[in-house]
Amino acid sequence: MAQSPILSGVKCRLEPFAAQHLSARYVGWLNSPDVVRHSEQRHRRHDLASCKSYAASFDGSAHFFWAIIANDEALGHIGNINAYLDTANRVADVGIMVGEHAAWGRGYGTDAWLTACRYLLLDLNLRKVTAGTLANNLGMLSVMKRSGMREEGRRRRQALWEGVEVDMVEAGLMREELAAFLESGLKPD
Ligand SMILES: CC(C)(COP(=O)(O)OP(=O)(O)OC[C@H]1O[C@@H](n2cnc3c(N)ncnc32)[C@H](O)[C@@H]1OP(=O)(O)O)[C@@H](O)C(=O)NCCC(=O)NCCS
Repeated sequence: MAQSPILSGVKCRLEPFAAQHLSARYVGWLNSPDVVRHSEQRHRRHDLASCKSYAASFDGSAHFFWAIIANDEALGHIGNINAYLDTANRVADVGIMVGEHAAWGRGYGTDAWLTACRYLLLDLNLRKVTAGTLANNLGMLSVMKRSGMREEGRRRRQALWEGVEVDMVEAGLMREELAAFLESGLKPD
C-alpha cells in the first residue's frame, strides 16, 4: 500500500489499514445484508482470511486502504475507505463502507469521503477523484453530492439488484472543484 499519514477529518480520522483493523467486526459488516445491500460485495461471503487477503492486495501497490475511526471512542472503527490510483492519468477511484449501523446518517461517511478527497487532490496533487454507485443508493448519492462531486454519466440498467435492473451513476470531482467547494463553506454537519 502507498504510505499515508493518519488523515484527520472533523468527526473521524483515516488510519492506514493495519493488522489491528482486521477483526470479526469488519468481517461482520461485509456479511451483513443491510450494509452490502447496494455494494457489489452483496454477491459474496467473507471471512477473516478473505479480508486479510483483500488488505494484503494493497501491499506494494500505489493504492490506499484506510480504516475510518470515529472520534467518538464508543464507536471506534466504523468502516473502511479505499482509493485506487491511476498514476499515469493522476486520478483515483474511491470506495467506502461505513459498516456500523450506529454510525449511519451522522455525517461520518461524508467526513471520511471529504478527508480522502482532500488528501488525494490537495496533498497528492491528483487531478481528479471518481466514484460509482447504484442509482438507488441514496446514502452514497448524498455523500457524493455533499462532497461537491458531479454526476458524469450513467451506465443504464447496468446492475441486477434484487431482481430489478438499476443504473450505475458515475461521478467525478476535479481538484479545482474541491478547492472551490471547500472555500464555499459547505462542510459536513
Ligand atoms: C453510503 C454510506 C457511505 C453513507 O454513510 P453515512 O455515514 O451514513 O453518510 P452521512 O451520514 O454522511 O450522510 C450523507 C447523507 O446521506 C443520507 N443517507 C445516509 N444513509 C442513507 C440511506 N440509507 N438512505 C437515504 N439517505 C441516506 C444522510 O441522511 C445524509 O443526507 P443529507 O445530505 O440530506 O444530510 C453508508 O451508508 C455505507 O457505507 N453504506 C454501506 C456500503 C455502501 O453502500 N457503500 C457505497 C457503495 S458504492
